[in-house]
Amino acid sequence: MSGAYEKVYQASVASPNVFWKAAADDIFWYQFPETILDDSNSPFNTWYKDGLTNACYNALDFHVEQGRGEQTALIYDSPVTQTVEKYTYNELQVAVAQAAGALAELGVTKGDRVIIYMPMIPEAAIAMLACARIGAPHSVVFGGFAANELAVRIDDAQPTLIISASCGIEVDRIIEYKPLLDHAIDLAQHKPNHCLVFQRPQTTAALQSGRDLDWVSTVSRAQPVECVPVESTHPLYILYTSGTTGQPKGVVRDTGGNIVSLKWSMKNIYDVEAGDVFWAASDIGWVVGHAYIVYGPLYNGNTTIMFEGKPVGTPDPGTFWRIISEHQVKSFFTAPTAFRAIKKEDPNGLFIKKYDIQCLKYLFLAGERCDPDTLHWAEDQLGIPVIDHWWQTETGWSICANPVGIELLPVRPGSPTKAVPGYQINILDANHQPLPAGEIGDIVVKLPLPPGTFPTLWNAEDRYVKTYFAPHPGYYQTGDAGYIDEEGYLYVMSRTDDVINVAGHRLSTGAMEEVLAAHPDVAECAVIGVADDMKGQVPLGLLVLKAGVTKDDQAIAQEVVKMVRETIGPVAAFKTATVVQRLPKTRSGKVLRGTMRSIADSQPYKTPATIDDPVILDEISETLKTLGYAKS
Ligand code: COA
Ligand code: AMP
Repeated sequence: MSGAYEKVYQASVASPNVFWKAAADDIFWYQFPETILDDSNSPFNTWYKDGLTNACYNALDFHVEQGRGEQTALIYDSPVTQTVEKYTYNELQVAVAQAAGALAELGVTKGDRVIIYMPMIPEAAIAMLACARIGAPHSVVFGGFAANELAVRIDDAQPTLIISASCGIEVDRIIEYKPLLDHAIDLAQHKPNHCLVFQRPQTTAALQSGRDLDWVSTVSRAQPVECVPVESTHPLYILYTSGTTGQPKGVVRDTGGNIVSLKWSMKNIYDVEAGDVFWAASDIGWVVGHAYIVYGPLYNGNTTIMFEGKPVGTPDPGTFWRIISEHQVKSFFTAPTAFRAIKKEDPNGLFIKKYDIQCLKYLFLAGERCDPDTLHWAEDQLGIPVIDHWWQTETGWSICANPVGIELLPVRPGSPTKAVPGYQINILDANHQPLPAGEIGDIVVKLPLPPGTFPTLWNAEDRYVKTYFAPHPGYYQTGDAGYIDEEGYLYVMSRTDDVINVAGHRLSTGAMEEVLAAHPDVAECAVIGVADDMKGQVPLGLLVLKAGVTKDDQAIAQEVVKMVRETIGPVAAFKTATVVQRLPKTRSGKVLRGTMRSIADSQPYKTPATIDDPVILDEISETLKTLGYAKS
């Protein structure tokens, strides 16, 4: 219906209280909230503050009670172990209640934090839901992070319990998780009371007596427990995300807002009804995995898929199509990188033709900018709407999308379409003034943010205000820059901070620089994100050595590559570093990372008026050319 989006959008911004009260009617509450939005202490706004609910109840028990118990809730599809396992809502509820009982018997109570460091196996989702069942905020740490990153999160979240598995599987490599976990606990100041370890058949982890427990025997002995009613504002989870420094930000997600916003989004953005199969090919370590592998589809009574594999190589670029066809997926969500990887191996879509994927109605892409080439290729191959949408760990769900459940708006390549109902997007200049259509500035969202967005940062209220709300009073600073065109379409162009996006994974160049700077021969350094055909961006390190260093440049470069892998993790994809004589800087000493990035990507750039010595840019350009960058 034409104009439907505009109508819903206007209703959401004209009367947020009315709009989000109606959405709240669609979820289960032990006590329906009397106050919908409390913005008396902005930017610490709260939604549904006197409501009582439970995320696990909404995800499982509610559906069992409504007669959906025999429907498949979760499909575990793992080409790396050649396994397909299905859990009905009944079975998942039983498994989660039992696991929650085990957690309770280990002394975990409402408010205690639990870190989950697990691969893409059903027990990971069961662990998350078990935490939610007893009101213990979970903090999932992505498996591709190194022990040091895990240790930083342990110290910040101070978990009572850590849940892990003996290993993950990266295509055909076994990644032992337990040694990483043990090392992280050694590094951390805080020590958990227990670790609960799921032993996978591929490898058995050594358990430390008194501290570590076997998942299967502990859970099977436990008594199942019921859901604990929690305040709407109670933290469901903490998810750490990269900022400008090595200290990640613990994004807090409150319970009521999460349930309402995700359930609303399943119908209105992803156009799925209860009973439909929805698949997000991401990882539970990322916000997409929290929202659209675990919570959103289950709140909505969908069948969700946990995929343990890669778009290519497990075993071939037809994996996605095999899963879509076999499990009858209606809406599919992944990152553009995954499509670039498939396109590279199967440019003519021969693997797509091998499967009947008529069930698929939409492809949703997010996590990084979707380049028009990838969008067109996907549209041509699949013949369905390909929807780019933009969001962040902080918001928990999309800020800008084509809300196909309300109305399919015309797709504009390069744009994630328009503001999602509830979000008032503006483009501001450095003086907080709105910019006209077509002009690039800071993308900000006028307060209040809608339900489901982050109410604070864990242990870092000052950082919450300083990073996100101080730059433009009255607005949330997204950290992205872009413009809105005459028709209200948003174009997200780049980050305004030192965050880069590698294969849809958000990483901090500042954190990598901290690692490089710790090398004894490095005097100063810079890490920039350079364009990569497949991963969108990859980090590149530039090192200035201390005077008198005689060691081979190549050897130092290799050492820092190893250090980043060991300190941050393989997910950083930090593979290239090079020695330069000097770094270009402003006269006040600020390293000109943006200018170097433009040079590396062969983009036009202006030599900044404040540059200390313009000749350095020529030197950098020559060095980058030897690495295959700065082509023109
Ligand atoms: N545990 C341990 N290591 C992991 C890991 C995990 N859970 N996930 C990734 N890694 C490792 C990989 O093995 C790889 O290590 P390597 O340098 O030794 O090869 C490194 O981290 C980078 O991994 P990845 O980003 O997955 O790159 P890749 O080269 O292995 O695969 C793609 C390339 C495009 C197939 C892959 O990046 C991909 O599937 N991208 C889509 C991402 C996505 O869905 N993002 C979600 C946002 S919505
Ligand atoms: P994360 O918090 O890991 O989800 O990363 C959020 C960041 O990824 C955003 O701030 C953007 O920089 C980028 N991003 C996510 N989705 C998109 C998109 N559709 N288009 C452009 N950038 C995106």
